[in-house]
Amino acid sequence: MSIHIGAKEGEIADFMLLPGDPMRAKYIAENFLENPVCYNQIRGMLGFTGLYKGKRVSVQGSGMGIPSHMIYVNELASQYHVKTIIRVGSCGALVDSVQIRDLILAVGASTDSHAVSRHFEGGSFAPIATFELAVRAAENAKKMGLTVKAGNILSSDVFYDDPALGDVYEKWRRYGVLAVEMEAAGLYTLAARLKFNALTLLTVSDHLLTKEALSAGERQSTFNSMVELALSLAE
Ligand code: HPA
Repeated sequence: MSIHIGAKEGEIADFMLLPGDPMRAKYIAENFLENPVCYNQIRGMLGFTGLYKGKRVSVQGSGMGIPSHMIYVNELASQYHVKTIIRVGSCGALVDSVQIRDLILAVGASTDSHAVSRHFEGGSFAPIATFELAVRAAENAKKMGLTVKAGNILSSDVFYDDPALGDVYEKWRRYGVLAVEMEAAGLYTLAARLKFNALTLLTVSDHLLTKEALSAGERQSTFNSMVELALSLAE
């Protein structure tokens, strides 16, 4: 048992999907895994372990934002020795080349968060996905008939920015950053330090240029394809 996760040793699989929303973890467990067993209810941050095509897989909620996400990732990697963590989440599109419903593979995660820069005074660390996982995800997506847009994303600390700041995303857009979410840079930074494999897959739920947004029903179908792709990476 760790501070925020109530699982006993051995109850969590080496391979894990990590959505932000604990109800999404429950949904994945109930709809994609065989014989799912709930191992955590602390703070309602549900975690389950089950089988996917005969392989042991866990799925766990991690909350919103880098601080919450990093607490769970830290405990999963350092105390439960999880080897591979795939974040499955949603994002807002920043550029014209990305549309709502698209599937994004976050090769790198830029960030405005001090949680990363505090370790690198005077320099800027580049949080990146595990190359081998990113390549396999791109290959599997092709086999599954899914179109994936791969590139740099922004992990921001702020969802509701002060309108007085103007368009806070313009500088990221100019450098080709595809979309904004709130966790991946924390995951990739811990993957580098704690030596586990990490990848982030995202569905585009809203567009910050066109202001379009997916309804709850539409979110579900794109979410299912992303989960299938993430689960295809289980070994
Ligand atoms: N900002 C940050 N995170 C998000 C967004 C957004 O607009 N949409 C989905 N996740």
